[in-house]
Amino acid sequence: MGKKRFVLGCLIGCLLTALLSGCSSPSREAENSGKEKSDKVQIGMCFDSFVIERWQRDRDVFVSTAKELGAEVNVQNANGDPAKQKEQIEYFIKKGMDIIVIICIDSKEIADSVKKAQDEGIKVIAYDRPISNAGADLYISFDNEMVGEMMGEAFVKNGLKGGKVVMICGPLTDNNVPMVRDGFTKVMEENDNEVLDIYYADGWKAEAAGDYVYNNTELIEEADAIMCGNDDLASKVVYALSEKRLAGKKMVSGQDADLEACQRIVEGTQLMTVYKPIEKLAGKAAEAAVALANGEELPAEELSEYDDGKKTVPYLKIETVSVSKDNMDDVIIKNGFHLKEDVYLNVPH
Ligand code: BGC
Repeated sequence: MGKKRFVLGCLIGCLLTALLSGCSSPSREAENSGKEKSDKVQIGMCFDSFVIERWQRDRDVFVSTAKELGAEVNVQNANGDPAKQKEQIEYFIKKGMDIIVIICIDSKEIADSVKKAQDEGIKVIAYDRPISNAGADLYISFDNEMVGEMMGEAFVKNGLKGGKVVMICGPLTDNNVPMVRDGFTKVMEENDNEVLDIYYADGWKAEAAGDYVYNNTELIEEADAIMCGNDDLASKVVYALSEKRLAGKKMVSGQDADLEACQRIVEGTQLMTVYKPIEKLAGKAAEAAVALANGEELPAEELSEYDDGKKTVPYLKIETVSVSKDNMDDVIIKNGFHLKEDVYLNVPH
């Protein structure tokens, strides 16, 4: 091979490698680009993952609202890996974003990076999940204790008094999980219901919830109700129950109002879900992100407080709605959250 051709080959090779790796490596891009040049507010948004249906809606509403307000949003997805989320926050710090919005996977991993961002003058919003010991500039979420209470109250309304329940929650690394658990167990205690077992599904993995049902037949048979931490966990629980011919015979709860959960509710295999108005959460969060990035104060009358273990963080709390067969149309269909023909796909209505 001639020398010129060899050099040309190397150049093309290097170019290809750079192009391919540049697409997926945030840190390489950061080194090259440095601080964003644009005058627009730069928002970095770190998601846990997009496996659960709701998060795509969170992203879409947040990004479109922020754009309408003249900001730019860079979205990163950690695919459930806390170390990767830390890297993505560090990437946003290097890039000199104005504000970082985080759906925290595990506070232990990222609290230092939050501090580092704030030391660089970058604001941080804890979105949907609180970040322990981090002193974020804002925590915006639904009332998680109320989510748990709604699950419990729906069971009680459906006749669960002096009964038995099994709880299949999300992982304790998600700070929402103990809040939902406590709201639920409070209602159980008030109504003399016994909690037979509490299981925490690692990484919100629905398969783990299904496996729990397969591996704990006696407990499941003894229980009158199964509290599931979200609709995705409920999906595999109901599937496993149906294999035991128990679907519809145990009360099952969830949250998020996923389409399939709404279908199960009208079909009778899931008792309830909790509707969380994502449009409101994501819209308000985008407005708050732009305001904070511009150094503006948030309207004090909308804020309460959350103690994250290090600091009292301003907390923008959004209400939720309990959804059963009875109010499905009013809560979920009228506002277009899901289409009627999709919810009632398998049942006449
Ligand atoms: C959220 C739920 C969601 C779950 C899994 C929780 O922190 O509050 O709405 O289903 O994470 O992503």
